[in-house]
Amino acid sequence: MIIQKNTFALLIISASLFFSTHALLEIPVKFDIKENSILFNTTYGTDNCRIEAKADFFYCNNEIDFIRTGLRKLQTCGAVRVGTTRKSDFEANFQMGNFDARVVFSQYNTIENLNLTFFTQSLCFGKVTNDQEQLSLVKQLHQEGLISQPRVYITFFNRYLQSFTLNDIIGQINLGEPNPEFIKKGSNFVKMYVDPDQKYVYDCQFYSNGESTYFGQKISGYKQYSINFDQAISSIDLDTFEQMLAILNERGYKITVSGIGIFKEYFINTIEGLEPIKITLLTEDMSPYILTINASVYTQKIEEGVHKLMFKAIRDNRSYQIGNQILTSYYFAYDANTQNTFFAERAQDLNPYQVDQKAENFSQYLRSKKI
Ligand SMILES: *[C@@H]1O[C@H](CO)[C@@H](O)[C@H](O)[C@H]1NC(C)=O
Ligand SMILES: *[C@@H]1O[C@H](CO)[C@@H](O)[C@H](O)[C@H]1NC(C)=O
Ligand SMILES: *[C@@H]1O[C@H](CO)[C@@H](O)[C@H](O)[C@H]1NC(C)=O
Ligand SMILES: *[C@@H]1O[C@H](CO)[C@@H](O)[C@H](O)[C@H]1NC(C)=O
Ligand SMILES: *[C@@H]1O[C@H](CO)[C@@H](O)[C@H](O)[C@H]1NC(C)=O
Repeated sequence: MIIQKNTFALLIISASLFFSTHALLEIPVKFDIKENSILFNTTYGTDNCRIEAKADFFYCNNEIDFIRTGLRKLQTCGAVRVGTTRKSDFEANFQMGNFDARVVFSQYNTIENLNLTFFTQSLCFGKVTNDQEQLSLVKQLHQEGLISQPRVYITFFNRYLQSFTLNDIIGQINLGEPNPEFIKKGSNFVKMYVDPDQKYVYDCQFYSNGESTYFGQKISGYKQYSINFDQAISSIDLDTFEQMLAILNERGYKITVSGIGIFKEYFINTIEGLEPIKITLLTEDMSPYILTINASVYTQKIEEGVHKLMFKAIRDNRSYQIGNQILTSYYFAYDANTQNTFFAERAQDLNPYQVDQKAENFSQYLRSKKI
């Protein structure tokens, strides 16, 4: 009897050891090029009803549209109303990536409050300004004890998002802890500064001392930067962009322009010899960290001798949104409680198929363990 009990206890201990050392929560992501959104497969409820959820990072909320999903379907799929402050909140078990969890979400469209032009089914990884009004997936997973900290990690495996279909895995989200395989050898996550006095911090925002260089020459910098998760293109102030074009012209690159106004697109004849844009970010203790935006991130090949410069130049010197291609060279993290952002250089020789297979093997293991 005693021996059996001990064996049982040992089993529990080794199981929890396994979970604490190996339970890396991962969600493979895809990209919807028409809607410009990061999506992932999820099934919810007792009937495993399938939805493609948008991974949202800005002013987000776990919210699902009943127009698309169907109110009846919400219920037949096994979502139940929860007694939170708002009566449109539901709860269900969601399966995503290699794990499942109880998720509270709100119903986006209600009969009383219809919006026929806008649909959403998103799960929120960003900052939640008001926990009463917004629901955050990372915070919920943290409260449920599935992750040790409410942190989201994200990286993209490939930068040519437009050449992938909705069946393709283009990147991965990890929750709580990073996937060590994605971190370049010798690199580490560096925690960035958050201004404690700034009441209104944008989601996933990071700070700079304003220094920025291109081909070793100073160009105008910004005090705040953020990542545009849904667009490959970066937005940049027209003046800064013109400084960059002048530097390129000086070095003999040929720039061609098509379109007009804010629809202007810029192309360069070759990427040979292009240097990175270097932005000095501020780390937690205000020391400098150089964020390197390589040519592979700010250009895309259209055809031989035609490479698009991935910038939208606008008159706005306040902020600079870096396009999501940066996620192919950095592994980025965000803490939904503290608002800190983190950067680690990404391992370059990832094999997405292998990454995917590992996730599949792991989830099979989880499923076989679940009785
Ligand atoms: C529907 O929602 C979108 C996005 O929030 C908003 O821009 C639009 O004005 C809304 N339309 C109506 C009719 O409320
Ligand atoms: C989503 O599910 C489909 C069908 O099961 C699968 O082929 C695809 O690889 C999945 N995509 C992602 C990103 O998980
Ligand atoms: C941004 O532009 C505004 C208006 O053109 C100007 O007043 C302000 O000084 C500029 N700020 C910086 C940091 O360049
Ligand atoms: C930028 O490119 C250089 C040269 O290819 C490479 O060594 C470096 O790791 C890249 N940096 C990032 C952040 O991708
Ligand atoms: C996944 O499991 C299969 C079958 O057990 C094995 O052959 C394969 O090597 C595993 N893949 C990885 C990446 O661990």
